[in-house]
Amino acid sequence: MDLLRYGRSPWGQTILTHVSWNLFWASLFAGILFFLAHAAYMLFSAHRKRSSAETDRLEAANKNLPEKIERHNLSARLFHWVMAASMFVLLFTAFLPVVGVKFAWVQWHWIAGLVLSASIVFHIIHATFFLDFWSIWVGPKDIPELKAELLREFGHEVPGPKPGKYPLGNRLYHLAIVVTGLAVMFTGLFMLKRVRTPFFVRDPYILGDRAWGFTYVAHGLAGVGLVGLVIAHVYFAVRPEKWWITKSMILGWITRRQYLEHHEPSRWRVGAGSSTAKPAGQA
Ligand code: HEM
Repeated sequence: MDLLRYGRSPWGQTILTHVSWNLFWASLFAGILFFLAHAAYMLFSAHRKRSSAETDRLEAANKNLPEKIERHNLSARLFHWVMAASMFVLLFTAFLPVVGVKFAWVQWHWIAGLVLSASIVFHIIHATFFLDFWSIWVGPKDIPELKAELLREFGHEVPGPKPGKYPLGNRLYHLAIVVTGLAVMFTGLFMLKRVRTPFFVRDPYILGDRAWGFTYVAHGLAGVGLVGLVIAHVYFAVRPEKWWITKSMILGWITRRQYLEHHEPSRWRVGAGSSTAKPAGQA
């Protein structure tokens, strides 16, 4: 199976030009396979939220917590939905022609690309200066949580830590989106120089053939990677047991009970009138 496509430079050299569209089908297939395998696995998986008795005890000890707990403020929600809309336009404009639906896609594609790029820049500034920046990253500190989650997955009742604001899976997913999203954004912004836009004079000669080849291949690789990643994300968003998280991306809040069932209050501190108040009954 070909993974890359090659062309000939004016001097007769073989140069890399694009990724092969076989990779698009592979990513689509991997995304669909993942959701079928996960859905089958979930039929047998143990429940991973806190037991009712333990949640009752925590709720009694944390009466000071508000009934609704803010999970995503308005700016974060707007970013998420603008990014999602632009991502879908980008995926459909890039890949509908590959599956045989031919139309003038390039203009719609780069316009959505600029919207995505602007939303990413906004998100980086917002997350760095106004949100809890470290809450989304993974590191060695998460090993106890990983061990506890794996044991729970196999049906053991273990006392190990629950997630902070974001479960481990979400944080790993965010990392993959950061890598592919930034790759597609930087290469895409560069590629704008090759197409006709109202912003500057088109100049395909700012890079040599080889460098353009690598840029197009990097853009294509990140793009096909995003096909599988987006399928996995949408699949989790619509799963019934994850619906409470998806709802919080629409309404902004989760209930106190959901907070105590799914999170470690000492790792995501919230409280009436204070975002750092420590819930009772916690170390
Ligand atoms: C979900 C994100 C994205 C996906 C899946 C995606 C996918 C693609 C694909 C598959 C191509 C064709 C590449 C080739 O022929 O080798 C392409 C071309 C292109 N993309 Fe993207 N892209 C994304 C984001 C962006 C962004 C953020 C920008 C710009 C800000 C952008 C700008 C462009 C441009 C200018 C082209 C070149 C069109 C041409 O040369 O005719 N893309 N994109």
